[in-house]
Amino acid sequence: MNPVELIHKKRAGGALTRQEISWLLDGYVAGRIPDYQMSAFLMAVFFRGMTEEESSAFTDVMLHSGVMVDLSDVPGIKVDKHSTGGVGDKVSLILAPMVAACGVPVPMISGRGLGHTGGTLDKLESIPGFRTNLSVEEYHKVIAETGLVLIGPTAEIAPADRKMYALRDVTGTVESIPLIAGSIMSKKLAEGIDALVLDVKTGDGAFMKKYEDTVALAKALVAIGTHAGKRVVAFLTEMDQPLGFTIGNWVEVLESVECLRGKNVPDLMEVTYVLGGAMVWLGGKARSIEEGMKQCRSAIWSGLAYQKFLEVVRRQGGDAGYLEQPERYRKPRHRVDLISKQNGYIESFATRNIGVLATELGAGRQKAADVIDPTAGIVLKKKTGDRVRTGDVLVEIMADRDAVVERVRDELAGCITIGQTQVPPQPRIRAIVDSEGIKPWSTPQLY
Ligand code: URA
Repeated sequence: MNPVELIHKKRAGGALTRQEISWLLDGYVAGRIPDYQMSAFLMAVFFRGMTEEESSAFTDVMLHSGVMVDLSDVPGIKVDKHSTGGVGDKVSLILAPMVAACGVPVPMISGRGLGHTGGTLDKLESIPGFRTNLSVEEYHKVIAETGLVLIGPTAEIAPADRKMYALRDVTGTVESIPLIAGSIMSKKLAEGIDALVLDVKTGDGAFMKKYEDTVALAKALVAIGTHAGKRVVAFLTEMDQPLGFTIGNWVEVLESVECLRGKNVPDLMEVTYVLGGAMVWLGGKARSIEEGMKQCRSAIWSGLAYQKFLEVVRRQGGDAGYLEQPERYRKPRHRVDLISKQNGYIESFATRNIGVLATELGAGRQKAADVIDPTAGIVLKKKTGDRVRTGDVLVEIMADRDAVVERVRDELAGCITIGQTQVPPQPRIRAIVDSEGIKPWSTPQLY
């Protein structure tokens, strides 16, 4: 076979056979197909899409690029969660230890920052010493001993996603249903789970901005998981403003620690409790999602969720002392505030642009070799619907890079719309999708 011919075929809208996909992807993982040819192929898929058959072959080939971990000797129903990517989306950092503290084993393979969105791995690696590249044996041992493990794709597990994800991040080839489905499900089906909860984001800060595309992505992900014999539910959640107050790596770890210690950041904790409740229910520890949510809340209030986080951080080599005494952490060299020049109410955020500005500060990558600045970040002081007065601090911006913070501050001013009437609070979660279809979702009141 010839890579150029396969790129031509996809570019012309043709459907590749399973053998052709396998030849291309296996060649890429082995280093026979270079990045530039894979980039061209990914861009062709971005524009031309894939048929259902191609998409399912693509996911399957990605999955079998590495080992499928067998966790059958670890007692309990193993459940994981994955998000399709958002701005300020730190849910995994709170949810994984919270659900593990409820007695449900959580083996989690996450991603790095992708496009304008942040990644759990980059956030975890901002904790000094934290190792996300465990061997299969270490992965197995940590989940068996702590009920929780947090890693990334490795040379052994989901290697095709590891390489292709890094390439998509910097080649503008993220927003494609078959590419997202293959990337997510190849990781999730390799990690040894029995059930999966998906957070499929919609709105300006999501990869799928239009609601109908979000529904299509959710259905595709649920179908792949169900076909593989897993119980899967997906929630369609809003990404019209950053989740919580922080965007960046270390700042998001700090906000997560505050929530693990009981702080209620309403939009963030609503999503965390609902997804966590669904995991506890799928894990057989609750009779309903609502009962699972109550258990999750108890795990936070009792301190068990935070203790579980400290335990896994230490177990994976991280220095938990920085979580207990964050003032020890290295300070960013530059820090500026964006001040409001008017009175009113926050009407909306240009969420995707805020994510892009966070990457420009150094919280994400613009080239594959870029090194993340863990201290780079944006802290919102106001959220949609909040009252604003002239002179109020709207946003705090920090980074090590010279000259960038002032420019980002000026551009952030254009990302926040202040109006004269207060926007009423909107539901954060719109619907739930399972193998039977889609239903509207209304979050039960917990407090
Ligand atoms: N998360 C992933 O793991 N992959 C994608 O392509 C998008 C979100």
